[in-house]
Amino acid sequence: MSKYFDHVVGLDYSRAFIQLAEEVKASGAAAFNNKRPKVPYCAPVQGELTESREVSAPRNTFPERCAFVVGDAMHLFPEDPDVAPGSYTVPDGASFDGVLCVNLLDRVPDPMVVLRSFARLLQRRGVLVLCDPYSWTETATPKSKWLGAVPEGSDSGNAFAGRRSEDVVKEVLSADFELQTETEEPFLIRDHVRHYQLGFSHCTVWIRK
Ligand SMILES: C[S@@+](CC[C@H](N)C(=O)[O-])C[C@H]1O[C@@H](n2cnc3c(N)ncnc32)[C@H](O)[C@@H]1O
Repeated sequence: MSKYFDHVVGLDYSRAFIQLAEEVKASGAAAFNNKRPKVPYCAPVQGELTESREVSAPRNTFPERCAFVVGDAMHLFPEDPDVAPGSYTVPDGASFDGVLCVNLLDRVPDPMVVLRSFARLLQRRGVLVLCDPYSWTETATPKSKWLGAVPEGSDSGNAFAGRRSEDVVKEVLSADFELQTETEEPFLIRDHVRHYQLGFSHCTVWIRK
């Protein structure tokens, strides 16, 4: 994002993720002779065995343009009574030129709240990039709030029963956005040295009407 935008806010619910992002940012700012110092982290190997690895801000990015904040994508606006103390809220009346939301929808208790927030977050002609594998679980999201993905006639109370999440997302966003592209984006998560998860996120790019 920092390659394309002058000011970037990176938001996640996890304090640990934001702290690591801040450390990588600080290492990027400390670049010397074009080399960025590395930040150590632990990667799982097997069982309780871990190994030490290093990460640094990628080349051609601009860490100084980024602010990393702890926040809840379900409660982003200052008038929301459920904003947790210390959680990021969008400054009053502010809107963004771009929003990138990756692999979040199927991790929140009410994805429709996140989906509907994009129209308010983006200014006219702003760009939205939305990616999600729709790996619904009841641990993260009650079945009644999944974006479809339950059979027609199920007693889940789901308003989109019988439909696929891809179609629900496109129908909801089409009210305020023009669809630009729709692709499948592969990703690989390493659980441990002999176990990986291969996923394909449904990725759509939109322009705010
Ligand atoms: C599947 S991970 C994806 C992480 C990253 N976006 C990526 O694609 O690699 C889901 C992320 O959503 C974050 N998350 C879960 N609920 C959230 C919420 N309500 N608001 C903001 N972030 C949330 C988790 O902390 C986690 O980092």
